[in-house]
Formats: sequence, structure tokens, C-alpha cells
Amino acid sequence: MPIKTKRQIIDLRNQINEHNHRYYVLDEPSIPDAEYDQLMRQLQQLEADFPNLVTPDSPTQRVGSEAQSAFSKVQHISPMLSLNNAFTDKEVIGFDEKIREQLQINKIEYVAEPKLDGLAVSLRYQQGILTQAATRGDGNIGEDVTLNIKTIRSIPLKLTGDFPDEIEIRGEVVMPKLGFEKFNQQQRLKNKKTFSNPRNAAAGSLRQLDARDTAKRPLSFYSYAIAGYDDNLLPQDHFAILEKLKSWGLPVANEICLISNIEAGLTYYQDILARRQDLNVDIDGVVYKINHIPYQQQIGGLSRAPKWAIAHKFPAQEVITQLLDIEVQVGRTGVLTPVARLKPVEVAGVIVTNATLHNQHEIKRKDIQIGDYVVIRRAGDVIPEVVSAVLEKRSNEVKSFKMPDKCPVCDSKVIHETMSSCSSGLICSAQLKQAIKHFSSRKAMDINGFGIKIIEQLVDKKLISNIADIYQLEPQQVIDLERMGEKSAKNLLNAIEKSKYTTLEHFIYALGIREVGESTAKNLVQHFTNFELIKAATREELQQVTDVGEIVAESIVNFFAEQENIDIIKRLQTAGIYWDEVQVAQTNEHNLSGKTFVITGTLASFTRAEIKNGLTELGAKVTNSLSKKTDFLIVGDKPGSKLEKAKALKVKIINDLELMELLQTGL
Ligand code: IVH
Repeated sequence: MPIKTKRQIIDLRNQINEHNHRYYVLDEPSIPDAEYDQLMRQLQQLEADFPNLVTPDSPTQRVGSEAQSAFSKVQHISPMLSLNNAFTDKEVIGFDEKIREQLQINKIEYVAEPKLDGLAVSLRYQQGILTQAATRGDGNIGEDVTLNIKTIRSIPLKLTGDFPDEIEIRGEVVMPKLGFEKFNQQQRLKNKKTFSNPRNAAAGSLRQLDARDTAKRPLSFYSYAIAGYDDNLLPQDHFAILEKLKSWGLPVANEICLISNIEAGLTYYQDILARRQDLNVDIDGVVYKINHIPYQQQIGGLSRAPKWAIAHKFPAQEVITQLLDIEVQVGRTGVLTPVARLKPVEVAGVIVTNATLHNQHEIKRKDIQIGDYVVIRRAGDVIPEVVSAVLEKRSNEVKSFKMPDKCPVCDSKVIHETMSSCSSGLICSAQLKQAIKHFSSRKAMDINGFGIKIIEQLVDKKLISNIADIYQLEPQQVIDLERMGEKSAKNLLNAIEKSKYTTLEHFIYALGIREVGESTAKNLVQHFTNFELIKAATREELQQVTDVGEIVAESIVNFFAEQENIDIIKRLQTAGIYWDEVQVAQTNEHNLSGKTFVITGTLASFTRAEIKNGLTELGAKVTNSLSKKTDFLIVGDKPGSKLEKAKALKVKIINDLELMELLQTGL
């Protein structure tokens, strides 16, 4: 096979790995998804043409093709230990005192880490390649979940930098809260089993016998320790080891802190407890670990848990209270949601009086009755949820709940499918108010100052009966609203006017199509680039879009099939809503004209003269001096100082493969 092909494959893999790392570990993507997909497709094609060049660490090998019948057992290189728990500051201070006494040292440096609520795994890397992954099991023997672990994008299949020949990395697999909510929501729509918390969801997802199922679950990983390494080659401080892990491309939790004494640890605990709801993963406490490894070794531990670390647990997120009643709320798309009215109770520091029950099926599945004592949970999401009924405490007076057959707001018939929905469409005022609130929200049309109080008045006075009516409001109608002066009316009208200039993404999201959130709107626009194409797309075409499955496609098609929606869209466009044409990531036209390029290093595929001629023909310039005005630095083998300079100047850096693509397809 040609050497050039091999080089191309390696180059593509390196690029894809780099983008994966940027996207999943650093959260700083540098290319659009479409461009990433294109790289992946190129690699898949080359590997299909030259199958003997496929290696297990290739990014194409993340998803296995066959289900396993069982997981085989794996003996851990050294036991995967558990942690001792502390529930109060006093216990933590006692832990530190004992250590200082034993070591005869006044002040001990610790590393404070979030205690991630997922499941522990051990990853073995040999010569930098991920060769085996195992669950904790009983601490000595776990299960081989290599194929499943490989589907987690934030886990590198190949390490970068100066890694040891053999190493085991330990860390936690978690399901981020947003992903968990979304996953449960999808399961509910399909009438399938939901998970009660992100930890169970992570554990259940990792133990799928078919890795293709695991691949569909939103899992992440954070590393927190290493095992089976040569002590002399690695740093002697735990914090420095975490830095090493990062340098090898592994994800490490952002919140980890080096602290100079245990008191600082208690402050860290309070701080992270207060921020707990804002973190994107569930944590159930803080772990304090002695930083200096020789001290850890001196302190040692028992067979189950080390004595040099302790988990400082958070107060429980689950409590029991009484379910007083179930009320029904109408959402913007007409979906009826049963809401539990609870005897007020404190859950993780917040008084809770309401909690969602999701839908009638969930109530039935969990066998929840009005008057029951119920378990309330505040994990995963800010909205508390009723987890289960405490059947032992059930009295004879409990009442069962049934979804109403009439909408509680507008009295229209309710359609009972997977979820119950009001059938009136836009007649239902509760729905309408929510739809308008959504339409004007910041991520939609961004009408500043158009709050729910104003919306309620406008709907109740029948001045607005659909989203298009917003743009027909007369100044006097706005001025006449309660608590509205002439000045604020003017500001609001200006904001409405200003909102007309929007983006296609915002507009699609604003329409409030069921199942179409911000990211789906973005994916639709990236894929179709044009509103008319989205409007006319078939179910099959829609399912080609990233993250769009059957249900979402169905919902979009149904939305555009409604004449009423088409009329409203037409009115919105007539009212003057407009957006700039979407810039397509890849076009067939050449637009390199006027761009300046600089070359450094030796290029494999072209001579400098070839590049210069090619680019000049397209109207671009190739110069020797690199400056802020340079658009691209083309980098070959053994680049000179220009590479560093370009990075500092934030000039876009491309290799010969990317240049080839640029010459073919333009920007
Ligand atoms: S260290 C030798 N660090 O907690 C100590 N564990 O209760 C080994 N966990 O099995 C664990 N976050 O699954 C460590 N930052 C963290 C952690 C963490 C979560 C889990 C881990 C372990 C369990 C022990």
C-alpha cells in the first residue's frame, strides 16, 4: 500500500483524536461538527479500502459490532479500594489529627476532590494504547468492560505525551446530569424503563452486553488515581500525578484543589456543597487525600480502604414526606404534567413543596397514591422528583390518581397517549402563555422585557392569540397594560422590533416544536442550512441529522404538516422576521481569494512551488513573513519557530492534508 495512504491515515487519526480531546475533555471544540464528521468519514473510507491498516486504537474502533454473551473476569493489578466516610467536620478534623500524630508533622497538605457519584473503573494502557478496562467488582476481581469503555469519547484510546510503558488508570464513569435527564425523557417517551439516578444509569449503561447500546448512552469519565507503575518514574505528589494524567490526554475533574491544611478542606467542602446543583455531574461528597505519596505509604491502610484518604459525605439528597395532592400543569406544547403537592420538607438544603411525577404511566409504575409517604430526590436536576412510595407507611385513606379527560385550563378534550396532552392546540391559554414565553426567551427570539406578567395580561385580554400576534401589537395596547409606563412600553416595542433580526437557529428553536431544543435546532440548521429545506424534509431525511431519531423526526414533520403552523410562520415572515443566510462549512466555491498563507517545514505531498502556484491561481498570497494579518500557516515536518509564533498570534495552523482539502473545497 502506498506510504502516503498510511501517513494520511495516521494523520487523520491524530487530528480526530485531537478534536475528540478538545471536545470531550477540554470542552473547547475548534471545528464544526460537520467538519469532524467529514474527517471521520475520510478515515472510515481509507480503513475500508485498506483493512490491514486498522488498529485497535483507531477512533473508528470505538463501537464494537457484536454483542457479548457475558463479561469475562479480570484480576486487578492492585486492589481497587473503597473509602472511609466522614459525615461531620469533627470527624474530618479527627482524621487529620491522627495522621499528623502518626507522621509527627504539624501541617499536612491534602488534595481535595469531588466525590463523583458513578462507578469506579480501571483502565490498562500498554505502550500508550488502551488494552483493557474493568469494573471494580469486589475490589480484587472485576468485569472486563473494554468494549463498552471504548465507546466513551472522553477516554483516549491512545495516550499522548510521555507516558509509562504500562499503567493502570483509575477513575469514575458517570452520566452527566443533563444527559441523564434527556435519556430518561427519551425512555419515558418510548415507554421504557427509566433510571432513578445518574449513578444507576451509568452502571446500567456500562454493563450492556452490546457495546453499541452503551455507545448511545451519554457517559463521561474522570480519572483520579494510577496503579501498577514504576514509582521512580512518576511524581511523588498526588496533585502532580493528576497533572500528568491531564498531560496524557485523560480527563480530570476541574474542581480538584491542592490545599495546605484540613481547615482549607472544610471551606472547600462548603463551597462545593453550595455549587453542587450547578455542577454538570452528580457528586455525593468530597474526598481528602494526603498529597505527598511517601506519606500515604507511611500511613498505609486496611485491606478495604486506605487510612490516608477520607470521603466527607454530603447530606442526603433523598428524604421522605407526604404527598398531599396531585395537580395537573399544562406545558407549552400542551403536555399535561402531574405535579406532586408535598408537605414542605428540606432536601439538601432547600425547602421543597412540589415535585414532578412526569406522567400517568410513571405514577402507575411507581404505584403512587395521593396521601402516600413518598421518597423525594433532588439529584440530577434542580426539579425535585418523586422517586417511590413508602408502601409500609400506606394508610387506608390513600386515593388513586387519574389524569383528567378535560384540560384543567381550557376544558378541551385530553388525548391520552404515552403522555397526556390537551387537544386544543393554541386555544388553551395555559399552553399559549408558555409558548409565547418560550418564543420570546433569550435563546429563542430574545425579546428583552417580555416577561410572563406581560404575556399573561396580553393573553387574558385576548390581544395575543398566537406568536405572530406579538408583531401586530399597537403601541396603545402596550401602554394600557398594568404597571406599564410610556417609556417601558416604548422599550418593549423596540425590543420586539429588534427581535425581528435573528438567526435561523433561534427561529427554529423559538417555534417550540415538540422535542426540538436548542441543540436539535442547531443540528438541523447545520445539516439543511435553509429553512425551506427543513420545512419540507421527510422523516428519513430528518433522521440523517445528528441526534435526530424517529420521535424527533416525527414531531418535526407533524409540526410542518399543520396548516395553522404554516400560516403563523408566513405571518411571522411577513411581519419582517429575517436572518442571515447560513454560512455553509464546506462549499464548492473557492473563497481563498485575498487570503495570505505562510509555509514552514517540509511538506510531504507538495513542493513549496506547487503550493505557491496553486494558491496564487485561486487569488491567495503566499508570503514569508508571518504576522497577525496572516490567515493560515501551513505546517510540514520539522517546522521552525514560525509554528510557535503562529500559535501566539492565533493564526490558523493547517497541515498538508488540510491544505489539500482547502484547495479542493475552499473555506
Ligand atoms: S479514590 C484508594 N477519588 O468512591 C482510594 N474515589 O467510596 C480509591 N470515588 O470506589 C478511590 N470519586 O468509585 C477516589 N475523587 C475520588 C472519587 C472516588 C468517587 C468513588 C470510587 C470509590 C468509591 C469509594
